[in-house]
Amino acid sequence: MRKPFVAGNWKENTDSRSSVELAKAVATGSAGLAKEKVTVAVIPPFVYLQSVVQAIRSSGIAVGGQDVYFEPKGAFTGEISPAMLKDVGCNYVLCGHSERRHVLCESDEMVGKKVTAALSGGLMPILCVGELLDERDGGRTEQVVARHMKTGLAGLSADKMSAVTIAYEPVWAIGTGRTATPQQAQEVHGFIRKLLAEMYNAKLAQETQILYGGSVKADNAKELMAQEDVDGLLVGGASLKADEFVRIIQAAV
Ligand code: 13P
Repeated sequence: MRKPFVAGNWKENTDSRSSVELAKAVATGSAGLAKEKVTVAVIPPFVYLQSVVQAIRSSGIAVGGQDVYFEPKGAFTGEISPAMLKDVGCNYVLCGHSERRHVLCESDEMVGKKVTAALSGGLMPILCVGELLDERDGGRTEQVVARHMKTGLAGLSADKMSAVTIAYEPVWAIGTGRTATPQQAQEVHGFIRKLLAEMYNAKLAQETQILYGGSVKADNAKELMAQEDVDGLLVGGASLKADEFVRIIQAAV
């Protein structure tokens, strides 16, 4: 059985005070659920990681970074290494979020290097994959998702894969209020699992957690989670409201 996994990606939001308040409210609201019944992670901006980790230290909620650089150290102004994320208490890191790919122009190859570097640094990467609207309309969803999967996981052995989570986030559903229907999500999640079986093996494909992201709200979380291959949710906007995020966590159990 794959354990449900709900992660809140705060993106470029919150400040020093509200980040701690939000984290504490999520911890209070999900007490008794987080860790035992569902893996919960919050993913704040880099500068608030340390205070969020401190604030929810014994809550069972994990903390993740929104991005990471693949070089371990050196003259890379503005970048953050896997060791730095680990050092401040992160367990997870997003790799290849669509905003990194499409706004910050990250290449497929760069995303693959980040996944590898994150694993080497002892972090659990959440590899984000997903198509643009014109790619979906042009019938190229599977082609794009397969490319993201193959380049994102390039060179990774099956034993390393146990620490990797996949997040399917159709770009047209992110921040638009236009959620993929549960059927659309299931179709692509099923495709990703089939692909994992081809790339690795059937057991690994069955064990890998595949999250859905894109306009997830408290009132659509349950029907998305009811899909066979939807194992969890990667939540943006709705993770900034503690009450709503807690309702999503409850819906995922
Ligand atoms: P929204 O939930 O705001 O659509 O964002 C989804 C997302 O990008 C999570 O990583």
